[in-house]
Amino acid sequence: MKHEAFERIVVALDVPTESEALELVRLLKPSSGYFKVGLELLNSVGIGIVNRIVDLGGKVFLDGKFMDIPNTVEGACRAATRSGARIINVHTMGGCEMMKAAANAVADEAVKLRVPKPLVLGVTILTSINREIMNQNLRVAGTVEDQVVHLARLAEKAGLDGVIASPQEIEVIRRSTGDSFLIVTPGVRPVWSSANDQKRIMTPGEAIAKGASLIVVGRPITKPPKEIGGPVDAARRVVEEIELALKQDQTIEPR
Ligand code: C5P
Repeated sequence: MKHEAFERIVVALDVPTESEALELVRLLKPSSGYFKVGLELLNSVGIGIVNRIVDLGGKVFLDGKFMDIPNTVEGACRAATRSGARIINVHTMGGCEMMKAAANAVADEAVKLRVPKPLVLGVTILTSINREIMNQNLRVAGTVEDQVVHLARLAEKAGLDGVIASPQEIEVIRRSTGDSFLIVTPGVRPVWSSANDQKRIMTPGEAIAKGASLIVVGRPITKPPKEIGGPVDAARRVVEEIELALKQDQTIEPR
């Protein structure tokens, strides 16, 4: 996946109304690669939002985080492919069979529709889950890092295109999976922005330098600090930071 710097930004449209979402798309289309429709927007306005963003020329990452029995996830993935989304995701904890069903359904539906196959990503361990919760609450033993690597390899084996992971896990996943395996990371904060509720953060430049394929950025771009200006100014700064990171380290291959 070769990308220009601006194309590596996924703007999280975490707003409750269609008009707010579409206004952000109009403003930010020239300076970002994808728009992420998450559970809030999806459940507020419905799946038709994907088409309306596509009509404005935006590419959509439908962050539906599917997890169910393989047959149900297969149906959801077919519907997500028909929605016009270019990236969709499932939970890796749904297991290998479920992930295979997702990958096959998306590939098959895309052929039927004669559209480019959407990328299918796996959510590993949510960044809101730490080792204590994982070990004691979920009764999954070991470190979060080991579990994330295990799930990323499972996702790769099942035929997914990549995973979503915290910036802290980029390097270890990169070492454990193939070169074309995508790593998409939220928890990204430019130095000029507020951390908000994100805890384990990295700047856009750092995340790209460590090997992130795409970075998910929400509030720093959609609600930037006053001194930065509006969303377009904020996005431009993030693009510049990515360009700088790529220039400083010529060994980083855009993925
Ligand atoms: O505003 P902010 O940049 O924090 O938005 C990050 C986006 O990435 C949100 O849509 C959030 O739901 C999503 N995300 C995350 N951490 C994860 C998975 C998804 O922040 N582990």
